[in-house]
Amino acid sequence: MDEAISFEVHEAETGETAIELLNKNFYHIILLDNKLPGIQGVEVLEYINSKQIESKVVMITSYASLELAVKATKEGATDFVPKPFTPQELRSSIENITKQIFLKQMTSKLQKEGKHIRFQFLSLLSHELKSPVNAVEGYLKIIKEQQNGDKVTDYMPMIDRSLERIQAMRDMIMDLLDLTKIESGQTKRSSEKIDIGEVAKSCISIIQPMAIQKDINIYLNYNTKILYQFDRNDLEIILNNILSNAVKYNVDGGRVDCTIRDSGSYSEIIISDTGIGISKEDQEKLFEEFVRIRNQKTTKIPGSGLGLSIVKKILANYNTEIKLESEINKGTTVKIKLKN
Ligand SMILES: Nc1ncnc2c1ncn2[C@@H]1O[C@H](COP(=O)(O)OP(=O)(O)O)[C@@H](O)[C@H]1O
Ligand SMILES: [Mg+2]
Repeated sequence: MDEAISFEVHEAETGETAIELLNKNFYHIILLDNKLPGIQGVEVLEYINSKQIESKVVMITSYASLELAVKATKEGATDFVPKPFTPQELRSSIENITKQIFLKQMTSKLQKEGKHIRFQFLSLLSHELKSPVNAVEGYLKIIKEQQNGDKVTDYMPMIDRSLERIQAMRDMIMDLLDLTKIESGQTKRSSEKIDIGEVAKSCISIIQPMAIQKDINIYLNYNTKILYQFDRNDLEIILNNILSNAVKYNVDGGRVDCTIRDSGSYSEIIISDTGIGISKEDQEKLFEEFVRIRNQKTTKIPGSGLGLSIVKKILANYNTEIKLESEINKGTTVKIKLKN
């Protein structure tokens, strides 16, 4: 244990004074002599036990009486130091107990933090799922009450919007499944060397239909074959997320460049776009769950805000580094360093 820990010490000459002090303060450790002028140490121990005071008690006994030891253990004493003792003996007893207390405090702190993070995640998730459900419900009510008359065609925009919201919800559920798979650590990773360029090519072909709709050209630039130990499925999730962002947040007629290169001591995947860009302050939080940048340029673009957090979690399993550079209205570049 590297932590420096200091102690505040209170003394009591009798068992009665000890009980008075115990009623006023909480003590992590109590050094309790048995032979006392008034009530005995064991009686103080009984008191501590009856009041369920969670202190660690070290009994100090002048002669190691077996009977006393048994009784004290029953009453929950943590340790015994027989008299006469050396300062070193006392120190080592206190050191052990301090370690126990410290570890217990750390564990409970971590548990609380874990619960808090989980709670935050679930509240965000409920919020994200509630809004499409509310929207679709709203549209269905309007249609049911025929608020726009009895021509079905007059409801087409609402029906289209409902279908879009449902599609977005399905995408979010797929992202969540990816996320839970990664977090559970259950994904079996194959550890073969794969051709990064070839995987990129197949990911680009998946994104192509979306790019054509926005008249965006995607270029794949690589001349040497780069092999890297990566699970193919992991790499596909990463590239699909970054490439789809590069298309989604691009301008009509824009371009996307996917470059794969060998930079000597490491290889690099660089995906850059000519899109709407991201401001400096927004860039910092993008890799957190459910973060989406909301402004008039992004309102119509569907997404879960989970993509980049998934990318980050997967990359943490490899010897890699990810960097995002961006300038508003110019474009965004994502660089992944694949270290050797
Ligand atoms: N290439 C990009 N250009 C501009 N904004 C981007 C780009 N990539 C990501 N973003 C911003 O980061 C946010 C988070 O991205 P992501 O985690 O993939 O979630 P999603 O795409 O589902 O919203 C997006 O909502 C968007 O605002
Ligand atoms: Mg995305």
